[in-house]
Amino acid sequence: MESALEYPLTEYVPGRIWLKEYPVRFGGMDFSARMTVVRLDSGRLLIHSPCDIDAGLKAGIEALGPVAFIIAPGTFHHLHVGSCQRAFPAATTHICPGIEKKQPGLAFDRLLGDAPDPGWAADLDQVLLHGARFMREVAFFHRSSRTLILVDLIENYGDNSGQVDWLLRFWWKFVFRMWNRPKPAPEYQLGWKDKAAARKSLERILEWDFERIVIAHGDLIEEDARDVARTAWRAVLEG
Ligand SMILES: [Fe+2]
Repeated sequence: MESALEYPLTEYVPGRIWLKEYPVRFGGMDFSARMTVVRLDSGRLLIHSPCDIDAGLKAGIEALGPVAFIIAPGTFHHLHVGSCQRAFPAATTHICPGIEKKQPGLAFDRLLGDAPDPGWAADLDQVLLHGARFMREVAFFHRSSRTLILVDLIENYGDNSGQVDWLLRFWWKFVFRMWNRPKPAPEYQLGWKDKAAARKSLERILEWDFERIVIAHGDLIEEDARDVARTAWRAVLEG
């Protein structure tokens, strides 16, 4: 039988994208987050929103190729960058603007912006979300597999999610009204600094011809992905 240590990643898009779901605790709630590993055309790897990299995971990733890029795509998705840097010291680190203030000791090479780095531009496009107040992120689009890769711009928990922490279920059902309804993370919904700017960013994302969405929290979105995104962002798009 294959052990989790030997095969710690799930192959999602054959030969291209691997995922790793891992437990997190935040705001008194137990839930999960997801790391994405992309193998670029060059054969080099990009690690998006890394989790803690232990020896087994390191070996599993190394078996896929050399790690060139470590991406901290959102201002709530940077805690394990140091662990990833220690595991893959040859990689360059690219962070979402704002992380440098939240984690001042973190060494990084570049701030992510609205244009992809030349190192991954052949494979991935990106949009920096403008106009948010409490949270920020960069959305990525993997062209060849038509995969949109987000962290918090859509969260998706509901009846199909399996076991979900009772507190999260309560907040999602009765406070944020996002149980069975994919929506932006609560920190986004609490308020936008500039809705017009946010709308512009979301419209740019919706111009991409994606057919599936990888998110950090909750169930992957694999049906009617563009409609799901448009509905999730309705309060901004039509606000
Ligand atoms: Fe998150």
